[in-house]
Amino acid sequence: MRNPTIIWRGESNGYAELIDQTLLPGELRYIEIRTKEDMWDTIKRLAIRGAPAIGVAAAYGMVLGIQEFRGDGAAEFAIHVQNVAAYLGTSRPTAVNLFWALDRLKACQSEIASHSVADQVNALFDSAKLIETEDQEICSELGRIGAELVQEGDLLLTHCNAGALATSGSGTALSVMFHAKESGKQFRVFVDETRPLLQGARLTTWELMEAQIDATLICDSMAAHAMKTQGVSRVFVGADRIAANGDAANKIGTYGVAVAAKAHGVPFYVVAPQSTFDLSLACGDEIPIEERDPKEITEQFGTRTAPQGVQTWSPAFDVTPASFITGIVTEKGIISPVSREEVLRVLDP
Ligand code: MRU
Repeated sequence: MRNPTIIWRGESNGYAELIDQTLLPGELRYIEIRTKEDMWDTIKRLAIRGAPAIGVAAAYGMVLGIQEFRGDGAAEFAIHVQNVAAYLGTSRPTAVNLFWALDRLKACQSEIASHSVADQVNALFDSAKLIETEDQEICSELGRIGAELVQEGDLLLTHCNAGALATSGSGTALSVMFHAKESGKQFRVFVDETRPLLQGARLTTWELMEAQIDATLICDSMAAHAMKTQGVSRVFVGADRIAANGDAANKIGTYGVAVAAKAHGVPFYVVAPQSTFDLSLACGDEIPIEERDPKEITEQFGTRTAPQGVQTWSPAFDVTPASFITGIVTEKGIISPVSREEVLRVLDP
């Protein structure tokens, strides 16, 4: 991988380096993250973003938080681990991968709670590293499985960034495109700019162009028109949390793309690892939706674009109902039709 999204330096007493995605595409800069507070802030301000990458960042944030432990004995350590996880869990609410990673480390700790603190620290570090390496393998698998859906001559459309930058591997929806390209298929991709923070314009076009995939940037408001007039043949997007019935939360605007795709008979695919499913939620109405700072829609990258005092509403995600999704590509196979029964059958949790 040329520019890994996140790198851990050293052993359990080491630190993280990650690409500050807020600076892309202008500047590719790695920043050092040495405390749990820095990791929290990095996740909050979207310097690292995308559900699987947030999961890996949270796992390494736990390792950083654990390094601060100065207490005495395993009982105090267990409380410390719980506290670090609770703190990191307040950074962003929607991507379930964050909570999945925190829960996994908490479970690891409680399984070996009787061991020495030093052994527990090493085991938690190994667990965090495993989350990273598994994510890399899963991304490849998603790409391999999803690429079968891409047809020669396709015009694909994607929203937000579900690429390498959003994971520690090759991405989810974009991994499908990378694999299709590697297997020699010819296709083009329309990329929604993805307001308000422009993950599509800033990150997805950058990744696709680096991979020499034919990418065309469009404004979000052009997607329906593109489907009607330009022959968009398939949509691939990522997800931040998928309920047990297949309703899928993803970057705000995804639902609108799905509505337009259904109206034009364009197959709409979600590509996501099993760690993005939250089977404790019956349907998408139960998914917590992050609301972001109104400045993100009134002061576009530092330039005021709305009157002072204007009222705002800024949900960062929306939920696409399962009935609008043709299939969900997972590392366990493709869920289609999308229903609670199929989700459980394919994932076999
Ligand atoms: O707010 P963001 O940039 O973290 O939102 C990211 C998305 O919505 C992605 O599409 C999603 O996390 C899938 S990542 C493979």
